[in-house]
Amino acid sequence: MPEPGPGEVLVRVLWTSVDPYQRGRMSTARSYAKPVEVGEVMTAQSVGEVVESNDPRFESGDLVVGALGWQEYAVARAGTLRKLPNGMPPQMALHVLGTNGLTAYFGLFDVGQPRPGDTVVVSGAAGAVGQVVGQLATIAGCRAVGIAGGPEKKADLLNFYGYDAAIDYKGEDVGAALKEACPDGVDVYFDNVGGVISAAVYARLNVGARIAVCGQVSQYNLERPEPTFHPGLLVVYRARMEGFLIYDYSHRFGEAIPRLAAWVAEGRIRYKEDVVDGIEHAPEAFLRMLRGENQGKQLVRVAAS
Ligand SMILES: NC(=O)c1ccc[n+]([C@@H]2O[C@H](COP(=O)([O-])OP(=O)(O)OC[C@H]3O[C@@H](n4cnc5c(N)ncnc54)[C@H](OP(=O)(O)O)[C@@H]3O)[C@@H](O)[C@H]2O)c1
Repeated sequence: MPEPGPGEVLVRVLWTSVDPYQRGRMSTARSYAKPVEVGEVMTAQSVGEVVESNDPRFESGDLVVGALGWQEYAVARAGTLRKLPNGMPPQMALHVLGTNGLTAYFGLFDVGQPRPGDTVVVSGAAGAVGQVVGQLATIAGCRAVGIAGGPEKKADLLNFYGYDAAIDYKGEDVGAALKEACPDGVDVYFDNVGGVISAAVYARLNVGARIAVCGQVSQYNLERPEPTFHPGLLVVYRARMEGFLIYDYSHRFGEAIPRLAAWVAEGRIRYKEDVVDGIEHAPEAFLRMLRGENQGKQLVRVAAS
């Protein structure tokens, strides 16, 4: 059991998150963060209960979220933790009211800059980030078109998340389906997957389109990325393509979380969680998420609250 030092807090982890970026931490390729070394704790956002606090901001029993990793108990510097409000399921701080919801919010609104009437296409649309993006696009008065794998996810996009049109990239010709789903072209593309799916979307961009590059999950397990993007497209469409990292927006999280929480309370943002029990199953949960077997946010319940 780790001992908290001055200004530190001991936390019993209740929930931990499983995310595509963790694949990058298992690689020595150049990235925005250094890899996790063999034998180190896998980095992850986790939610837990304070057991012991050496900082006046926290007391035993407080629910907190932070970068606590895949472990049952963690010591963290108090300043790196955020206290959770009462009255919400704590694991929501790992998805719609945490990194995934914030990624959807800033990626769509700040990078994508949607205008009412725009057509917004989302890849990875039924995943943790994608499920929120489509609903935010609807809130912004846009036509939301989602792309995901399999008939079950397609049905969820239409019937649960309220996308205006949906495409099952595993069962349909994405190019032909996009032509039908986006008769007026694509104004905003929120890209979670990259590769051949994105290539099909580029072919339907409107002049002045915005491409928010959130992630490229289809490429994470490849030895070499597929060459599916040609910068000349940006000239043809006078389009803007911008990658972003959610942590660059951390000074504005306080603006977004109450808005996301209000939309959840009003039923304007719905979400699905896919829960695996037991920290020993975290690696399997990670693999099933990369295989697309997760229905909504992939979580691991580490302990009962
Ligand atoms: N920029 C940032 O700050 C930031 C923050 C968080 C997440 N992200 C990125 O956002 C994206 C989505 O993350 P998430 O946490 O919401 O994960 P997620 O969508 O819940 O789970 C990953 C999904 O990727 C899809 N996938 C896997 N292999 C694929 C392939 N070859 N082609 C197409 N889709 C494939 C699967 O959905 P299907 O069943 O539909 O194939 C799977 O369910 C990732 O690229 C991630 O890196 C970026």
